[in-house]
Amino acid sequence: MKNISRESTQAELSVNFCGIRCENPFFLASSPVASSFEMCCHAFDAGWAGVSYKTISFYQSREVSPRFDALPGEHPFSFCGFKNLEQLSPHSAEENFEIIRRLKERYPEKVIIASIMGRNCDEWTVLARMAEEAGADLIECNFSCPQMAKQGLGSDIGQDQDLIALYTRATRKGSRLPIIAKMTPNIGNMELPAMTAIANGANSLAAINTVKSITRINTENFSSYPDIGGQSAVGGYSGQAVKPIALRFIRDLASYPPLKGIPLFGIGGITTWQDALDFILLGCTALQVCTSVMEYGYRIIDHLKEGLSIYMKQHDIASLDELRG
Ligand SMILES: Cc1cc2nc3c(=O)[nH]c(=O)nc-3n(C[C@H](O)[C@H](O)[C@H](O)COP(=O)(O)O)c2cc1C
Repeated sequence: MKNISRESTQAELSVNFCGIRCENPFFLASSPVASSFEMCCHAFDAGWAGVSYKTISFYQSREVSPRFDALPGEHPFSFCGFKNLEQLSPHSAEENFEIIRRLKERYPEKVIIASIMGRNCDEWTVLARMAEEAGADLIECNFSCPQMAKQGLGSDIGQDQDLIALYTRATRKGSRLPIIAKMTPNIGNMELPAMTAIANGANSLAAINTVKSITRINTENFSSYPDIGGQSAVGGYSGQAVKPIALRFIRDLASYPPLKGIPLFGIGGITTWQDALDFILLGCTALQVCTSVMEYGYRIIDHLKEGLSIYMKQHDIASLDELRG
């Protein structure tokens, strides 16, 4: 292993995802950290290659408060796992696509993924068309949020191959952009739903969305957390605790012969450059991060890029393609 000085740490981190050049493999995941113009600008200025913008829908969800709970980690104020009951973007679809248009205008080199969720085929088609018209680079079909208040949305889709086929085709009808199918881990086998998405027009896969969970019970009123006036619900778990689950699904997708060559976005608990490397070694082309950005801020991108660069230099690796899989 070579000894590398800080000054010579700029390894080539760019990757090609579905024909789109990304300056590095690091993206914000669709979530509250990528849900406004200012947040995305902040992330781009900090050095993130792109964002998967907070899921856009015509369905105006009523969000509860509080909607988060966390299990503590080993350091003060850190957590090992995070539960959320959040559903969709607080902005209208029109407002969100206008934000994407302005972002693309200001940052043409950055990669913007429009995460969408329709309630029927027509909505998937229209949202896909609006995403392309707004200038998004890719479309991510949210087949995976586990805490939607309405049936037939989010992870209800990711667990039902007929719905996956129907809604992937509807999305393809509305746009020629590359489509990413974001898969749910609330299922035993991800390869078959993934195959269905690919067979019906998706070009790539993202895994994982959050894991259905109950974190703790309030022992005074017997509600689980977050306790919303004595009531609560099963919600999505994310953060470091879910990384082993995510890695297992990535390994399953990457090693399934019919999915060979399909680009993968790795998501789930990525906090350090070593976490990122685990996902790349198992076959991911690019990565998305949510919970650790909520925990530590957008600047973790410095650690992610620098750590990966130093590792590559030390091991004489010229490109991330050499590490993948
Ligand atoms: C508060 C919160 C809101 C989220 N909202 C969305 C969403 O709107 N669309 C989506 O596809 N995933 C959503 N996710 C899931 C993340 O994009 C990601 O898949 C998951 O959190 C795992 O990554 P992480 O461990 O880095 O957080 C959300 C996650 C959290 C914690």
